[in-house]
Amino acid sequence: MPESFFVLSKEQLELATDEIVAIAKMYDRFSKIKIISNLIIIQSKTNWEKIAQRATFVKTSGQILRKMSGLFLNEEKFEVLKNAKTFVCRIINLSSNQFNIQELESSMGDMISKFSKAKVKFDNPDIIVYLIFTDKENFFGFSKKSKDKDRPKKVKNHPNELDWKLARVMLNLIGLKEGQTVCDPFCGTGTTLLEAELMKIKGIGIDFNKEMCEISKGNIKANNYKSKIIQDDFHKLTEIANEFQGIVTDLPYGRNSKTTKDPKNLLKELLSIIPKKKRFAIMFKKELGEGLKLDGFKKYEIYRHKSLTRTVLIK
Ligand SMILES: C[S@@+](CC[C@H](N)C(=O)[O-])C[C@H]1O[C@@H](n2cnc3c(N)ncnc32)[C@H](O)[C@@H]1O
Repeated sequence: MPESFFVLSKEQLELATDEIVAIAKMYDRFSKIKIISNLIIIQSKTNWEKIAQRATFVKTSGQILRKMSGLFLNEEKFEVLKNAKTFVCRIINLSSNQFNIQELESSMGDMISKFSKAKVKFDNPDIIVYLIFTDKENFFGFSKKSKDKDRPKKVKNHPNELDWKLARVMLNLIGLKEGQTVCDPFCGTGTTLLEAELMKIKGIGIDFNKEMCEISKGNIKANNYKSKIIQDDFHKLTEIANEFQGIVTDLPYGRNSKTTKDPKNLLKELLSIIPKKKRFAIMFKKELGEGLKLDGFKKYEIYRHKSLTRTVLIK
């Protein structure tokens, strides 16, 4: 079974690790996963590019060709370079040993040049060959040139809008697949819906504020997306529960956002009305969760600045 590697950014490591695990398991529940700090090794029938394309916090990823006991390279390991015109070597050192990385990359490049017709090219080569060192084992792998996906356009923004990376990670953590539908009952400018549609997940947005609904509709239309926007209170979600599989949302923060109720009550009520079988990811200002019984849910804390730490609650 193919093995892939994913080097995650250390910024939100727990969130990043859980996200990649959730994506791998969503596509293949028998995936085998090994976590070596911020290096994740996944054995799965899913191609690494499919997993990497959905993930938010992956810095580098590729396919593993084999584990290595030492720095021993031979011709058969370079099959992957057969049809490539250009390549570059990259060392990822996650071990506690110090290497002269530049020197190692360059001698590896020289070595590969002997086996292959491909030429070294630093900028956007066809193939990147990786050597990954950890304290336990070393890996040899590669990745191919891939095109960055275009980000959805937003014709109108709003100061309270959600960071698209958080929207994406929440969609992944609840394991929504292509073709399924997400509901955002506090959709604002539609960030969750845009991110969902980029991943081929359908969207339904609810917002009680007419102006926000218009902004959302404009943003959806600008990308030729199809999410439905409903101007209503979030309770509407119970009526349309058979139309979606999961909820991803970001609650009002108080001060700057117009709300129908005190945000603490919104959270309490929302949790009480979500149908039992639905998975959800709800983000809110940390203080709103104080005093509420939130045991049994997975919780992440995201520090933004000294007066804003967010909680992401997952079921
Ligand atoms: C923090 S904003 C959501 C931002 C959104 N995620 C985005 O990226 O633009 C919260 C939204 O909740 C909406 N809202 C407040 N009370 C509501 C209620 N009772 N029912 C539905 N929407 C409500 C506000 O109009 C606001 O657009």
